[in-house]
Amino acid sequence: MKRILTGIQSSGIPHLGNILGAIQPSIKLSKKTGLESFLFIADLHSYTQIKSANLLKKNTFETASAWLACGLDPEKTVFYKQSDIPEVTELSWYLSCFFPYNRLKLAHAFKDKSTNLKNVNSGLFYYPMLMAADILLYDADIVPVGKDQLQHIEFTRDIGIKFNNHYGKIFKIPNSKTTKNADTIPGIDNQKMSKSKNNIINIFENDSDLRKQIMKIQTDSKNINEPKDYNSCTIFKIFNLIANESEILDLKKNYIEGSIGYGDAKKLLFEKIVYNFKNERQKFKDYKLNPDEVESKLKIGSEKAKSVAKTTLKRIRSKLGY
Ligand code: ADP
Ligand code: TRP
Repeated sequence: MKRILTGIQSSGIPHLGNILGAIQPSIKLSKKTGLESFLFIADLHSYTQIKSANLLKKNTFETASAWLACGLDPEKTVFYKQSDIPEVTELSWYLSCFFPYNRLKLAHAFKDKSTNLKNVNSGLFYYPMLMAADILLYDADIVPVGKDQLQHIEFTRDIGIKFNNHYGKIFKIPNSKTTKNADTIPGIDNQKMSKSKNNIINIFENDSDLRKQIMKIQTDSKNINEPKDYNSCTIFKIFNLIANESEILDLKKNYIEGSIGYGDAKKLLFEKIVYNFKNERQKFKDYKLNPDEVESKLKIGSEKAKSVAKTTLKRIRSKLGY
């Protein structure tokens, strides 16, 4: 059975772009037969940026709640917190001693991130080694990631291959899988929806704040009776991703005929989001009132992950001479 594994940075409540582009496709994949899936919250990676204990906990909780609310089944997926399995940090040390410093200096993600930050810590630089350990520790076959992470998977493969050449077969060499929809969902300013751009739609907000976010979607200044270009309209683009065929056709027709204003189109979008994500929003609310439930689901996953990690690390330690 193939093992699929991916990590999620815990940087707050996932937005509609994260849900449609990453969460829903991953959950769908995790339910496929013949696949075993590992999904973890990369809270040790988050420590490179977040030094407030409360914020770190809050982000982890909200990220986990959102995944569970969107249908992740902890019986089918090994769902855990990275920090619950400290074995990963030991492995990352071994890996870093095998990876050329000059190559790590070429990491694009580090270059991108470090140019925008005031305090560039060494953890941020070392980050790909921890990521490689996340993958190799669990003998993953397939690692779904966004394009920005592909180089890190290349590093992981190279380290695995080098170790295998040196010690004999010790690691499984993983393959990456890029997420198709990634980066395609526009935010309220028509740029890629992103936490860092202040342009998100947060489906877990209460009705009134959710409505406000949707009402802020930028449009051109055409009035109600003018024909409108649905292709370039953010309201339509998002509606197109979540509505059914006949609803989409109706809205398209109204745009072409000039029989709907942007205000009413936004109202339609709001209602559609509330309707489509009714269960997810309710479950998220329930988890908020019941944080222990989320914690206990993560604990079950951590126990399973820990047992795999311990076995792999024992195998590695003996090869390395410890
Ligand atoms: P953000 O840009 O909000 O910080 P992340 O970089 O943490 O989001 O992305 C988490 C996951 O969500 C990745 O798999 C990424 O490809 C996906 N994702 C993020 N933004 C979008 C978007 N606007 N459209 C589709 N997928 C997205
Ligand atoms: N670095 C990834 C990101 O920022 C998160 C991550 C950490 C990850 N460890 C991983 C993804 C292992 C896949 C596999 O999105």
